[in-house]
Amino acid sequence: MPSPNLRTFQNTIDAFKTKLAEQSAQIHDLKALDELRHQFLSRKRGFVTILIEELKAFAPGEKPAAGQLVNALKNEIQETLAGLEARLKAPAKPKREIDLTLPGEKRYRGAPHPIRLFQREIEDIFLSMGFSVEDGPEIETDYYNFEALNFPLHHPARDDWDTLYITDKLLLRTHTSPVQIRVMEKQKPPIRIVIPGKVFRRDVPDPTHLPMFFQLEGLVVDEGITFAHLKGTLEFFLKRLFGDKIKIRFRPSFFPFTEPSAEVDIECLACGAKDPECRICGGTGWKEILGSGMVDPQVFKNVNIDPEKYSGWAFGLGIDRTAMFAYGISDMRYFFENDLRFIRQFDLK
Ligand code: PHE
Repeated sequence: MPSPNLRTFQNTIDAFKTKLAEQSAQIHDLKALDELRHQFLSRKRGFVTILIEELKAFAPGEKPAAGQLVNALKNEIQETLAGLEARLKAPAKPKREIDLTLPGEKRYRGAPHPIRLFQREIEDIFLSMGFSVEDGPEIETDYYNFEALNFPLHHPARDDWDTLYITDKLLLRTHTSPVQIRVMEKQKPPIRIVIPGKVFRRDVPDPTHLPMFFQLEGLVVDEGITFAHLKGTLEFFLKRLFGDKIKIRFRPSFFPFTEPSAEVDIECLACGAKDPECRICGGTGWKEILGSGMVDPQVFKNVNIDPEKYSGWAFGLGIDRTAMFAYGISDMRYFFENDLRFIRQFDLK
């Protein structure tokens, strides 16, 4: 009898391996596993026994190699069967019981930023007085940010509003006032708007200054508008925001685009006007929160509104700084550090 060929023998063994893999994938209980074991490992007619029989026919020089192949197959079969057995005997995972009486797991869903919440509160007060809300670009042209607001190119007032320039003519807006111009170019009086938004200035951060902050601009233009409207509206607004007892003062000031102009201070709510060393009010007992004034006739001319027929007033309020007082926070920088322990306190829903 010719001795069998090692290569053919290897193929036969490979075929058994494939068969083992296919069949073991179908085993789902111990009885089927036993049948599989019998098929492969039975002493009498199992596949391994048959292969061992065949070994006898190999030439003496090839016997050890052929023997190793059979051994490797046997090991693989034993390992596969042991793995299957372990899996089938493993205790079934207990089903997860749902206890409907337990309170649910609360997931934090996120919430508007405190500055946004406060901005809405302010908007609501003005909406209730018949104002509407407008919006404008954060990257502005020199014309809208300065020139149309009556700051000629070399006017010294520009020094107070230094900012980042993108080109000679494009800059990060230093206030929300340019949106006044954009609205008046498109809309004829009567105008009654507020304009919330981000503004940028060359300021060193401290408890009440940041190089980026939020403002809310207000603008009213109509026939017969006087400073009394300005004062009455702002007083009404601040009392709605801080309560009737809040102390307010109007202080003469200067802005190129309003004449006359006033800054509005509220009593320092950080120290209650009692601490001569207060880091917020510097011991004065007052803190400026907005600038305001009667729209300068030159600004009306720049947007083709007749200053003989119409008059108006405007203001610009620092939202973050006002929020600081409203929420009793000692440092404006907390708003932008994004520490969730701080931010989440405002989400009271
Ligand atoms: N734009 C001014 C500022 O940023 C505030 C202001 C607005 C003053 C409107 C008068 C009228 O300081």
